[in-house]
Amino acid sequence: MLALGIMGSPRKKGNTDLLLSSFMNEIGKYGVRTETIEIGKKKISPCIECGICEKNGFCSIDDEMNEVYPLLREADIIVLATPIFFYNTPAQTKALIDRSQTLWSRKYSLNLVDPGRKNRRGFLLAVGATKGANLFEGMKLTAKYFFDAAGAGFEGSLTYKKIENRGDIEAHPTVKDELRESAGNILKPYLKRKKILFACRENACRSQMASAFASYLAGDKIDSLNGGSSPSAEINPLMVDVMHERGIDMAFRRPKSIDLAISKEKPDIIITMGCGEECPFVPGAERENWELPDPAGKPVEFMRIVRDEIEKKVVELCGKL
Ligand SMILES: Cc1cc2nc3c(=O)[nH]c(=O)nc-3n(C[C@H](O)[C@H](O)[C@H](O)COP(=O)(O)O)c2cc1C
Repeated sequence: MLALGIMGSPRKKGNTDLLLSSFMNEIGKYGVRTETIEIGKKKISPCIECGICEKNGFCSIDDEMNEVYPLLREADIIVLATPIFFYNTPAQTKALIDRSQTLWSRKYSLNLVDPGRKNRRGFLLAVGATKGANLFEGMKLTAKYFFDAAGAGFEGSLTYKKIENRGDIEAHPTVKDELRESAGNILKPYLKRKKILFACRENACRSQMASAFASYLAGDKIDSLNGGSSPSAEINPLMVDVMHERGIDMAFRRPKSIDLAISKEKPDIIITMGCGEECPFVPGAERENWELPDPAGKPVEFMRIVRDEIEKKVVELCGKL
């Protein structure tokens, strides 16, 4: 599983930076893969309200937001960390949030179902210099609706007033304990899941479908990992089409290596898709092979047959669990 942090302050080594890195560090102690987006390093333009994403599900602006969509989709936990700038988030972070309108459109205009939607959680960390009672109210609403667009429930927040100068947060008397406790609480429901690696050669088609069905049907019981022994550059577009026929949204998925998929978590079960791929030996992991034909380069009808076969096998697997 992946925990994604968004470092929403343009100030490096400031309060937000310190807060988020401590939180991600606590999460990492549970063997969870973590990644952080530093907003100050990203070139993300604001939404121009062209309406294109509402029609075709993709943003018309070609910039570094294209690296963010796949991470938002892959993440099980999204941590938005931000200073308060005029009762909201800095403009750079707000641009990222506004551009998640693409995900909002896929969900609400195109009615596509993101397989991770039920098991993704969002958490807010925020700091501000003043002490007004409503200091974080606007930000909490912004975070709630950003998380909703990204297919995450609002799990909670930690907010700190009277934090102004770089490093002020370090002197806060309770912050360390609160971060540790919140990290444990947010991870609790994930830790009891069975870790299953779906592996094939390219991670472009069969293992992607199997992993998506597993998340879609039993994301509360299965930590669904996927990877390829020799990952291709992109996922198979015909596979995306046939999953869309089922209403399942596969956009923004990227093939990755088996090594990356299991770099932090050791799977309980490894399921291969029948293409003779080489998987690393993981002590204690059960192995299973599904003899599925490779649909790459075949017509759409063939892709549908493989999709249905995979769905059947995942349903059986969930029944066994
Ligand atoms: C442009 C700007 C606007 C700000 N607006 C607010 C505000 O509305 N309320 C507040 O309490 N603090 C405000 N602050 C203070 C920051 O929230 C505070 O210094 C915070 O600790 C900065 O976090 P950082 O070190 O992670 O950047 C503002 C700071 C800047 C630079």
